[in-house]
Parts: sequence; structure tokens; C-alpha cells
Amino acid sequence: MKKKTFYITTPIYYPSANLHIGHALTTVMADTMARYKRMQGFDTYFLTGSDEHGLKIERSAKAEGKEPKEYVDKIVASFKYLWEKLLISNDDFIRTTDERHKQVVQDFFQKIYEKGDIYLSTYEGWYCTPCETFFTARQIGEDKLCPDCQRPVELVKEEGYFFKMSQYAERLLQHIEDHPDFIQPVSRRHEMINFIKSGLEDLCVSRTTFQWGIPVPLNQKHVIYVWFDALANYLSALGFGTEHDQLYQKYWPADVHLVGKDIVRFHTVIWPTMLMAAELPLPKQVFGHGWLLLDSGKMSKSKGNVVDPLVLIEKYGVDAIRYFLLREIPLGMDGYYSEDNLIQRINTDLANDFGNLVSRTVAMVEKYCEGKVPTPAEKKGPLEQELLSLAGSVPQEAAGFYEQMDFANALASIWRLVNRANKYIDETMPWLLAKDSSQKEKLGTVLYNLVEVIRVVTVMIAPAMPALPAKVWAQVGAEVVVNQTWADTEWGKTRPGQVVAKGESLFPRIEVKEEDKEAAPKRHKEAEEITIEDFAKIDLRVAEVLSCEKVEKTEKLLKLEIKIGEETRTIVSGIAKHYAPADLVGKKVVVVANLQPAKLRGILSEGMLLAASHGEALEVLTVEKDLPTGSQVK
Ligand code: MSP
Repeated sequence: MKKKTFYITTPIYYPSANLHIGHALTTVMADTMARYKRMQGFDTYFLTGSDEHGLKIERSAKAEGKEPKEYVDKIVASFKYLWEKLLISNDDFIRTTDERHKQVVQDFFQKIYEKGDIYLSTYEGWYCTPCETFFTARQIGEDKLCPDCQRPVELVKEEGYFFKMSQYAERLLQHIEDHPDFIQPVSRRHEMINFIKSGLEDLCVSRTTFQWGIPVPLNQKHVIYVWFDALANYLSALGFGTEHDQLYQKYWPADVHLVGKDIVRFHTVIWPTMLMAAELPLPKQVFGHGWLLLDSGKMSKSKGNVVDPLVLIEKYGVDAIRYFLLREIPLGMDGYYSEDNLIQRINTDLANDFGNLVSRTVAMVEKYCEGKVPTPAEKKGPLEQELLSLAGSVPQEAAGFYEQMDFANALASIWRLVNRANKYIDETMPWLLAKDSSQKEKLGTVLYNLVEVIRVVTVMIAPAMPALPAKVWAQVGAEVVVNQTWADTEWGKTRPGQVVAKGESLFPRIEVKEEDKEAAPKRHKEAEEITIEDFAKIDLRVAEVLSCEKVEKTEKLLKLEIKIGEETRTIVSGIAKHYAPADLVGKKVVVVANLQPAKLRGILSEGMLLAASHGEALEVLTVEKDLPTGSQVK
């Protein structure tokens, strides 16, 4: 049977500046997806590259007294180095200065020209060189600033070839309507539909005032517009239009072009209309992810606030950086970078939750079982049943999120299992079982289950953190599996008798001196439209506060024991400045009951209390009528 294929691309990067941690986001996401698909048995092709032509590069090279090619070669080499350090598993790296690319772009141009969809005219209008984009007078407004980057635009008047983009508007809208997955996430889809409906103009696809570009085949005075040139990389890398087009035959149309939100428009308007004109199939999906921002706003070279990924990898390790990028950006939305946020993620999720699970488990197997993973008992108690049932359902749930490129939720879901396993240690207390010889079998079961959870979790996080599995296998004594498949998430593959070996801590805790702490990061979120199904994922419940006390050595935190139906839970809430503990006891409050548990000051908080705030004022949401605890809020 023919293997299922999966073709994923990143944008090709401008070699105009060093890449910052925001740039790394697109590539890490694409890499994670490619690795995940490989684990699912797809014949995967993953492409990245560099976008090297245009006036911007020509000017930068000149400023350094270099030829453009010499200038870009050095920067492109630094990209490749960064991707290696980030363990990016791309199958090819296309450069728009590659001969193989130039030829395809020229043929593409020629084909559309011959069809009558490219014509010669005069361009008069506004051009933003940093963005390599033409704008209409309406778009730049009175200040004559680029609507995307807010820098001054240049008035250009020159002969130019025009692509009849306008005539494809209707067909494009129809395509977007007929293929709901074409533009994802949904919020971007709405944006683009509105943009297209506001009217498409013909696009100027050549320039005459500089040379650094691919010449128009029929008129060497012109070079091809950089976006027209760049977008074609997705085809040229596959050998499209040449006699060696096996890759094209196999992988086109692309399954997904993963791009940042700033360039969704180019990929969902210019690119599909170019393909329509060339009578080629359109990519199945363009996915526009959000941006990684700083609290001070956009990361930009001119602001001098860029964060160098190489420095971070050196300092914190590649897996931690990848984990942060994937965990911190909610699907399609923006996320915030600060070193504080990064350290918090490392200390909480990686060191505390996962790292400790591994080190505690390995230490106990060494201490109580002579370093050999014990055999589990056939019979399962209620705790085992609960743990195994979660270990059975999480792989499916996480796979669902990976499929949607919702990496934040995929990892959150995997961490539910990590945290459940940590709780299982607290509940079963293996150190007490070890003291009682009649509990040997039970102890064996508990330790086996823990090693097995670690194995299942490690398989699931392998796409996100590719350096981790080998380190974990070495500690838990599993055979080194180089190419895990998703099927390896199935329960029960740990071999009793395998020898564990305590190693270095997987994620050492990062100690931060009090004075080095950054101000608490502000979180802003774009209010994205959600569906009723999205809302239904949040399990809101009425709960009664049974007891409440201040968390020692904190100003803001209260620890509450709450009752939800039959269950009693602990919640930590940052409302101590607004409520005395006694005021809350007996209140019927509303809590998010299915929130991933989190440790706050060493206390595991299992849920979140809802409160409304305005300026300094804050009030906890309560239920007026006497509804039973556990009642659902919807
Ligand atoms: N050369 C074009 C793409 C042509 S594709 C045919 C380009 N290059 S870029 O170098 O400016 O951007 C590459 C990718 O990095 C884009 O997906 C862009 O959205 C992404 N990012 C740049 N800064 C970013 C953040 N701060 N956060 C997240 N992604 C960011 O555009």
C-alpha cells in the first residue's frame, strides 16, 4: 500500500538580520509537526529555506561593501547553524538564489504571461522596502506609513508587469468557502475573507529600479517581484516543471504552509491566485500562527530588543526552549516571552513535574528493587485503574491536538498524565510499601506503572523535545528506540527486569536571585472568537468553601479546601488582598474544575476560582440560590 504523504513548509526567511527567538517559533512548530507525522507513519517532507532577493538585501549588502550573494551566503550559513542547534529535521533547505529555483520561477512567470494573465503597464504607487510590499494610497493613509511596519513608504513610478490577480477574487472566495480548512485557525479565515471582499487589485510583479532578483525571462530590464519569486519556492524545491519532478508528483499539493500571522495574506491571496493562473492545485492549508511578543511589544532589530535563540539554547538547553515556545503560544494567538516566564516553565513543568517524576522513580527502583524494573501484579486497584485509564486516553487526546497543530494543548494534556503519576506516588507512598514485606507485589505494581507512564509520556513528547528520549531511556533502562512511532504509546511495553541507571538531572532547577527577577509579565490576549464546543471544554462548577487559610510567606495567596459534589479539593487563589480567609468559608463559589493542576508555593492547586475585577476592586463569583455543590455552570 502507498504510504500516506505529508508535505509541510515554513516560510523562507529573509537574510536581513540575525534570527530571533520569534523567528524560531515557526520553524520549531513545523518541525514538531513533521516529527509527529513521521511517528504516525506518514512519508513526510519538511521544507525550509531563505528568501534572498530584493532591494532590501541589495541595499544592506552595499552598506557592508559586499556583493549581495557574498552577503547572503554568510547569513544563510548562520540560519543553517541555528536550525541544527534547534534540532530542526528539515528534508531540504531551498535558497531563492539556487539555480533550481530561478529556473522554476522564470518558467512560472512565462507560463502565466503566455496565458495572458500578466501584462505590461506602469506602476505608480507606494512601496515599503522592509516589507517588500506595494500599498494603495488608501492603505498608507495621510502619514504615508506602511500599514504593517509603520515605516515610511517610498513613492515609485516605473514600468511594471502586472498579474491579473483581481480576476481571481471570486474564485478564491469560493475556494475558501468550499474548503473550510484552507485558512486556519478560523479567526484568520474571517480576516482574509473580509480582506478579499474589500476588493483585489492587479499585482505589480516586476521591478526595474534595482538588479538583485530573478530577471523576467522576456524582458531582462525587469526583475521579478520578491514575493512572486519567494512563494514559488514551495514548488521549486520539489523539482516542479523539471524532468526530475518525482518529489512534486509525490508531495504536491502541500498539506500545510505554516506561516506567522503577518504573512497569511501573501499565502492566502497572492499564492493561491498565482497557482490558479498556472492551473495548479492549491495547498490544502495555510496555518497562521500568532506571534511571540515581548511585554514591551514587538521584537524587532530596530528596537534592539531581540532575544537570541542561540544564547538561550546554550543557557537552558534545546528541549527547554522548544518546550517553552510550543507550550506558551495558544493556538493561533500571541504569546509572551520573558526570561522569567521561561524559567518558570522550566522549573515548574520540566524540573518539578517531569524531571522529578523520573528521578524519584529511578531512585525508588534502585533502592527498593535492586535497580530492576519489577513485574506488575495482574490485579489492579482503583488507583491503578484510574492511572491506566488516563494513560490510555491521553495519547488519543494529545494526538488530536497535535493534528490541529495545537501544541500548547497537546503538551498540557500530556502533563495531566505526568501530574497524575506524581499524585499516584503521593497516594501510594512506595516508601511505606517498601517497609512492609507483605506489600511487595503492590510496590512492584506501583513502580512498574511509574516507569511505564514515563515511557508513554516520553514517546508523546518526542516530537516537541527530540533530545529528551535518549536521556530518559538511558535512565529507565529502556532499549533505545531511535524511531518511536505513535503506536508505542500503547500501555505495557516496559520490560520487567530492565535495569535503571540514575543519571544527571534531566532539567536542573534554575535558581533566580530575588533581585534578578523581572517585573511580573503582563499577559494580554487577543479576544478570539470561540465556538460553543470550545466553551464546552471548560468545566465550570459550583463549589463550597470548606476551609480557608493564608499561604505562609505570601501576601496574595489563599489556600482553600473546597467541596465539588462528593469530591474535596485544594485550590490556591491570589485573592488574599481582597478577602480574609474567614469571609470565604461557607460561600458557594464558581470554579474551573478541569484546569490542569499547578503547584503554587509547593501546594498543588486543582482548579481555579472565578472572580471579577475592575481596577483595584475584585469580587469572587458566588451563587445566590442554594444550589448543590458540583452543579454545572454554563
Ligand atoms: N521572507 C518572508 C517569507 C516568504 S515565504 C514565501 C518572511 N520572512 S521573515 O524572515 O520575515 O519571517 C519568517 C517567519 O518568522 C514568518 O513566519 C514570521 O511570521 C515569523 N516571525 C517573525 N517574527 C516573529 C515573532 N516575533 N513571533 C513569531 N513569529 C515571527 O516573512
